[in-house]
This record gives sequence, structure tokens and C-alpha cells, in this order.
Amino acid sequence: MSAAGSRRDAYLQALGIDRWVPRAHGGGAPAAAAAPPAPSPAVPPAPLAAAAPVPRAAAGPACDLAARWEALRTQVATCTRCALHQTRTQGVFGVGPERVDWLVIGEAPGAEEDRRGEPFVGAAGQLLDAMLRAIGLDRKSNVYIANVLKSRPPGNRDPKPEEVAACLPYLQAQIELLRPKLMLAVGRIAAQSLLGTDAPLGRLRGEVHRFGDTPLVVTYHPAYLLRTPAEKRKAWEDLKFARSVYQQLIQGRALDGHRT
Ligand code: URA
Repeated sequence: MSAAGSRRDAYLQALGIDRWVPRAHGGGAPAAAAAPPAPSPAVPPAPLAAAAPVPRAAAGPACDLAARWEALRTQVATCTRCALHQTRTQGVFGVGPERVDWLVIGEAPGAEEDRRGEPFVGAAGQLLDAMLRAIGLDRKSNVYIANVLKSRPPGNRDPKPEEVAACLPYLQAQIELLRPKLMLAVGRIAAQSLLGTDAPLGRLRGEVHRFGDTPLVVTYHPAYLLRTPAEKRKAWEDLKFARSVYQQLIQGRALDGHRT
């Protein structure tokens, strides 16, 4: 077996999965016919304060890109748009290269992320890294990781709708800069917040959604998988689905809207 193959097996082991055997995909309906209409966020994002506009990211030279990232980073670090700024240690902006094809979105920073200023660095983060590595992704090289909320809700409570509304424009600005080809929402809260639905996660899996113009697929939150290891196999199905959607995207093929 190749080095890459045995590395993948090691990550699959961390996921509690024996071995991935590729399965032929049948021909599903093209996305244009099968995918649902572009959803809008559950809560329309509140406009950012006039004094602190989120920088727009039109095409521009690379030096502009770095400056726009820096401006956005500063805005998040100094944000007072919701009450969470009073209890957070720091805003948790995101991690990864500044132009990538893959964007993973979680719910909100936890205690460890709030302390260290980086998303998914606790136990759930270690599992997320293993999941991503199993499909060839690494936050150091080819995937960006961020959250719907940039500030930790006290006691890790669920985000409030007004907090999501206040924070989503930052994610939208990050997407403009990153220009990802595919988003992966991990967990119910992230998926529902981005898709503007209260449908259960189980109903959102296995389908190509959209956040604005960006295709989005959904899987379980790694913290949930730590509590419910029996679901890891389904998460692996989701990851394989995401990878096949990505292959279709980079090959310019019409998307299968659903898992076959
Ligand atoms: N859970 C999340 O959704 N995001 C993090 O950054 C950490 C835990």
C-alpha cells in the first residue's frame, strides 16, 4: 500500500472505521434539477455598523488580498456587535490558507478555542482534523476552518439568532476572500444557521445545498461523534460524498444533487 494509503487508514482508524472501499456512483439527476433553491440564512444578517464596514473582496492584486484579510481580522478582534464580546477572551477568526477550495464551518468556539484563539483545537478539533485528513485535507495546506460565531457563548450554550445574525457578515466576508469551491458544515447548528432551516441534520445530509453561490454539504459535528461513535460511519459516508462533489466541481461536471 502507498504511504498516502496507509496514512489514510490511520486516520480512518481514528474515526473508528475499518477501511474505505470506493463504490461506483450511479448517475443522479443534475444539480440544476435536483438541488433546492439557494437558501438564505435563517436570520437575515444585520448590516454591519457604518463605522466598521466589512471589506468587500472584489478581484484584486495579492497585496490587496492580504490587506483585506488584515482589516477583517481587526474588525473581528474589536467587534462589539453582540453581547458575547463581554464574556469572550478573544474573537476566534479562522485558520488556514487565505485562498482555498474547501471551507469547513462549525458552530462557535468552545473554551479551548476561546483561550487559544483558533477554531477546533480541543478534543473535537482533533477528531475533525482526522476526518479531514482522511479525505486529504489539512488546515495547514488546503482547508480553511471557521465558525458561524466568532465568539464563545458562555457555557457553550447554543448561539442565539441575533448572535448568528450579527456574526454572519464576517463569514460572508471571509467567503468573498477565500472563494471556496465547497463548504462543509459540521453539526446541526452550523447547518441550520447557514441554510436558514430548522430541518434535522439527518434530513440535510447527503445533498448539495448552497450558501449564497457556494455549494455546501453537511455532516455531523465531531463533538457529537465523540459522544456517539456509532455515527462515525455515517460521517465517513458524508465525507466521501463531499469529496465526490468536489471532484465534480473541479472537473466542471454538473453536480449530482444527492448522494447515490
Ligand atoms: N466546536 C465548534 O463548533 N467550533 C469550534 O471551534 C470548536 C468546537
